[in-house]
Amino acid sequence: MNILVMGMGYVGITTALMLAESGWTVTGYDVDERKISSLKQGVVPFFEPGLDALLSQHLNSGQLHVTSSVKSAIKQNQVIFLCVGTPSLDDGSPDLKYIHSAAESIARYMQEYKLIVVKSTVPIGTNGRLTEWIASHQISAVPFDVVSNPEFLREGSALYDSLHPDRIVIGTDHKCAARQMRTIYNAINAPILITEPKTAEMIKYASNAFLATKISYMNELARLCDTLQIHIDDVAKGMGMDHRIGAHFLKAGIGYGGSCFPKDINALLNTASGHQHRLTILEQVVQVNNTQHAFYLDKWEEIVGGFRNKNVAVFGLSFKPDTDDLRESPSLSMISSLISKRASVKVHDPVAKLPAQLSSSPVEQCDSIDEAVTGADAIILCTDWNHYKYADWSRIHSLMKHPFLFDGKNALNRREMEVAGFHYFGIGQPYETHKLTSRSQLLP
Ligand code: UDX
Repeated sequence: MNILVMGMGYVGITTALMLAESGWTVTGYDVDERKISSLKQGVVPFFEPGLDALLSQHLNSGQLHVTSSVKSAIKQNQVIFLCVGTPSLDDGSPDLKYIHSAAESIARYMQEYKLIVVKSTVPIGTNGRLTEWIASHQISAVPFDVVSNPEFLREGSALYDSLHPDRIVIGTDHKCAARQMRTIYNAINAPILITEPKTAEMIKYASNAFLATKISYMNELARLCDTLQIHIDDVAKGMGMDHRIGAHFLKAGIGYGGSCFPKDINALLNTASGHQHRLTILEQVVQVNNTQHAFYLDKWEEIVGGFRNKNVAVFGLSFKPDTDDLRESPSLSMISSLISKRASVKVHDPVAKLPAQLSSSPVEQCDSIDEAVTGADAIILCTDWNHYKYADWSRIHSLMKHPFLFDGKNALNRREMEVAGFHYFGIGQPYETHKLTSRSQLLP
């Protein structure tokens, strides 16, 4: 079976490699010719562990090839995975223009049966509408099926997640299409759930929204834990030992970011309001997330006696480790708030680069940790890269003017940091109150 993957972003490249690993002959298509020529050289245009090596391997073996010519790609492949982006419109609903343009090409160039697999995250009901849409754009009536097959991969572990998913969700009403999908996923060891297309679409949104709910719940509890001098990570550990709760996504921090949670929750809220429903829990999930970084920044500001004219080193730009993705990164919100508090900010990230709109402001990106912390009054850790967990903290301490360390991801060990000489503050953690009361001595 020959498979075409349309859209060479995170999901598309990873899906193409997963399918090639599964033994299928795969064509990767993207409208962006620069992206295709970079991929032809074996270079993935974003940072994601493991993709480059596997891309080169499958390009060399001929299992995968990439192209920007859509007509021949559609003609030569029987199965088409749609992995194009669905960015948010101003009202929070997903923009389906890339889906429609891919579907229009399929409708125009298909000459025999096609199985069209929608991996892109699309509003509930889209797969059903896409069937009518393609049929109405066909030049002559050629049979096809549209199947919903949502993607659950995480950035930073995209390849592993694609090859070892917890489940494969397939939304189709047609037995034959379901059978073909089972064959495509034959090499992947995971349970397969066959549902109606609409249900599959809802599973994707509901899963992301639920994971975000877990995070916001812990983030809100962390604020109370601060006041009660309880460590939120210990609470999470005790909760997670109950298998009904599960140990994952209970880590408190300065909020979730990324290309999926914020966008998908907005889309779900938008779908609900379009049907005269309110998802009040989700509204609060968003509210907690939108205020989390500012809640902690205000707290920390009190501790250092104001950020005005203070030198602050921000560790981490990306929304999570092992990616250079800055979309909805809480680190960017933190930096903007620091600027409005008139702090002088130096930023370090092992991979990600400051976006243009921030690099012209009083923020400087540093290539080394040493450069970022020299003379700093405080460090704010925003992304839990291993780079920081295993940094030489004694050296960092020796370079700073004042050793205030604010850990926005609870990534560091408080005892170890205190031994290294820091005044350490995390999210939802007990802290030494005497240090707070003697603040004026700590920071003249
Ligand atoms: C998410 C979903 O996990 C994935 O299934 C879906 O396909 C796409 O969206 P991703 O956005 O890549 O994946 O990253 P994820 O690991 O889920 O983290 C999202 C955000 O939540 C990050 O900002 C992360 O730092 C934060 N997070 C995660 C927490 O704050 N606490 C946690 O316990 C887990």
